[in-house]
Amino acid sequence: MNILLIGSGGREHALAHAISRSSEPGTIYAAPGNPGILTLAQHADITVTQHETVVHFCKTHHIDLVVIGPEQPLEAGLSDDLRDAGIVAFGPSRRAAQLETSKGFAKDFMSKYSIPTSAYRRFTAQQSDEAHEFICGLKSTPIVLKADGLAAGKGVIIAQSIPEAISALDEIFGGAFGAAGNEVVIEEFLHGEEASVFAICDGTNFITLAPAQDHKRAFDNDEGKNTGGMGAFAPAAIVTDEVLAKVEQLIIKPTLAGMKQDGNPFSGCLFVGLMIDNGEPNVVEYNCRFGDPETQAVLSVTEGDIANLFLSSALGNLRPETITNKRNGYACNVVIASGGYPDTFSKGYAITGIELAEAEGNVTVFHAGTALNLSGTLVTSGGRVLGVCGRGDTLRDAIDKAYSGAGHIDFTGKFYRKDIGKKGLTKEKL
Ligand code: AMP
Ligand code: GLY
Repeated sequence: MNILLIGSGGREHALAHAISRSSEPGTIYAAPGNPGILTLAQHADITVTQHETVVHFCKTHHIDLVVIGPEQPLEAGLSDDLRDAGIVAFGPSRRAAQLETSKGFAKDFMSKYSIPTSAYRRFTAQQSDEAHEFICGLKSTPIVLKADGLAAGKGVIIAQSIPEAISALDEIFGGAFGAAGNEVVIEEFLHGEEASVFAICDGTNFITLAPAQDHKRAFDNDEGKNTGGMGAFAPAAIVTDEVLAKVEQLIIKPTLAGMKQDGNPFSGCLFVGLMIDNGEPNVVEYNCRFGDPETQAVLSVTEGDIANLFLSSALGNLRPETITNKRNGYACNVVIASGGYPDTFSKGYAITGIELAEAEGNVTVFHAGTALNLSGTLVTSGGRVLGVCGRGDTLRDAIDKAYSGAGHIDFTGKFYRKDIGKKGLTKEKL
């Protein structure tokens, strides 16, 4: 099976890694890929935003399946254009991807199909006065404000007071998030603990993978700014079998049925971001693709033929039996970031220690923000640089492996959280 993988992050390195372990990997191509991915795949010299060049590449290279990692190409309709050209693509249509690309769409959809989530109102920039009035009438804080469109994970503001919410509203409507902020969702704050569940879907049927927990704040004990995610572990004990059964029955099933009924069947990876309070799951957000950095941990505990799972999803004929074990031990993925991230940071620092980290055994280092400079040295090129993923029979072992690996990695300004997975350990003991 010849596969074209779209994307360049740690998530895509984990996808490439899993695909390369599949039963009939054929040739893997990556556009654009990164130095880690390109040890497993050949570089496809195409511009992903020019869909006709992607189609042409697929035809000339006999691509059997295109796997789309990030949300931007899905929003741009890449999977639609590929399908129209007769090419098999893993990833939802532009319309189905609205579950992620429009927070207002997602909230209206959940309300229509009684899917558990927080109460909300949506306002366009033209309804700014109404939105002010609505906020001033709210009885409880915090107040959650979300720019409607894609904002690279930055479009959510949790305001602690009414004046703070008003200034956040003015910021969103003032253009802080560009066109993504032409509309705003204002919603009730949910209490509890967050978890991520990925469901591989074919429009009708689905299979969930091991639940995971991300760590969004920059520093230990969930302090500092929100980031794209500083580390993750799987399986997450907060999502007990009972909670997962509720997520499947009350959230994923009605989501797939509703999307189908509305003429937008969802195929690809449905990422359900949850808030779990006393065993009751509520949807915080949907994403229409795998999560980063959760995927690195989730796929590390998944045994089976991922390429054929994705192919069957893309063909509308899901084959859950391609996965032989969803929970082969535990995995913990620690993100090594550039000093200054998620704000400004410098790039171009030489990275060392990856081989030593992997020589620990049961450690895989996933590249995220790396590049080769003109002299062929591996250097930093992004905020999240590497993910050091440890595996073990217990969560404790997986965490210890990840941190022994992370200890070998060095570059100027590096930092990482020291408590990834800790919240899972507390649960294990209970
Ligand atoms: P989102 O981009 O929608 O996932 O939001 C980013 C982060 O904001 C989430 O991971 C949560 O930590 C937080 N968040 C979003 N919506 C809510 C909510 N209604 N209640 C509490 N926290 C929220
Ligand atoms: N880890 C959260 C995300 O991928 O959106």
